[in-house]
Amino acid sequence: MQLNKVEIQKLEHKKRLNIINSITGIKPANLIGTKSNADEPNVAIFSSVVHLGSNPALIGFIMRPTGEVPRHTYENIKENGFYTINHVPSVIVNRAHYTSAKVNRSVSEFDRCGLTEEYIGNFHAPFVKECHIKMGMKLIDEIPIKINGTIMMVGEIQELILPDRAVDEKGYIDLSLFNSSGIGGLNTYYSVAPIASFPYARPEEIPDFSK
Ligand SMILES: Cc1cc2nc3c(=O)[nH]c(=O)nc-3n(C[C@H](O)[C@H](O)[C@H](O)COP(=O)(O)O)c2cc1C
Repeated sequence: MQLNKVEIQKLEHKKRLNIINSITGIKPANLIGTKSNADEPNVAIFSSVVHLGSNPALIGFIMRPTGEVPRHTYENIKENGFYTINHVPSVIVNRAHYTSAKVNRSVSEFDRCGLTEEYIGNFHAPFVKECHIKMGMKLIDEIPIKINGTIMMVGEIQELILPDRAVDEKGYIDLSLFNSSGIGGLNTYYSVAPIASFPYARPEEIPDFSK
């Protein structure tokens, strides 16, 4: 298959959506937990979480347009600035997936999808108990992407919670140990397995691949 820009635009709506959502490869599966100032908890699946920098420790994610469709995650973050990002382990991908359903604000996806709210220290937003690797985040910036009405939400890590044995002495995290999962498109979940690890790539150390 080869498609140019015009052919992509002419694709049937759902097919275009699926192809373009799948084409970037495996994305991380994360649940974002929030709580309104009226104490209504919310949790939803997000695949657009991305590293933005390590000092300060910044993580971004893309929020879909907030116009006609109510986005409870967005509303809660705007109310108080706090949210959690929780890696989805493979055993809960089905529960995590159904958090994407548009339920009323008064219904907690935690209850509806069989997930457990977890409050750690004084952190305002709920973590997801079933997840092993999680971050407490504070909103720092919002960058509107004018062409399609999405928003890059920029947050700074306030709390980092993960099992000691997930991290090696250099700080690398073995994502397979706690069964972190990945997402292809908008509906397929993948397990992850390491293939290889390499040192920092210095030009003089590039192997001779011609042999
Ligand atoms: C696999 C998957 C990945 C998703 N990733 C995102 C995302 O990165 N950004 C986003 O705004 N919505 C994403 N969604 C949609 C949200 O989960 C959905 O809009 C949800 O209803 C938001 O919940 P809320 O209204 O409680 O905030 C994704 C949905 C699925 C199924």
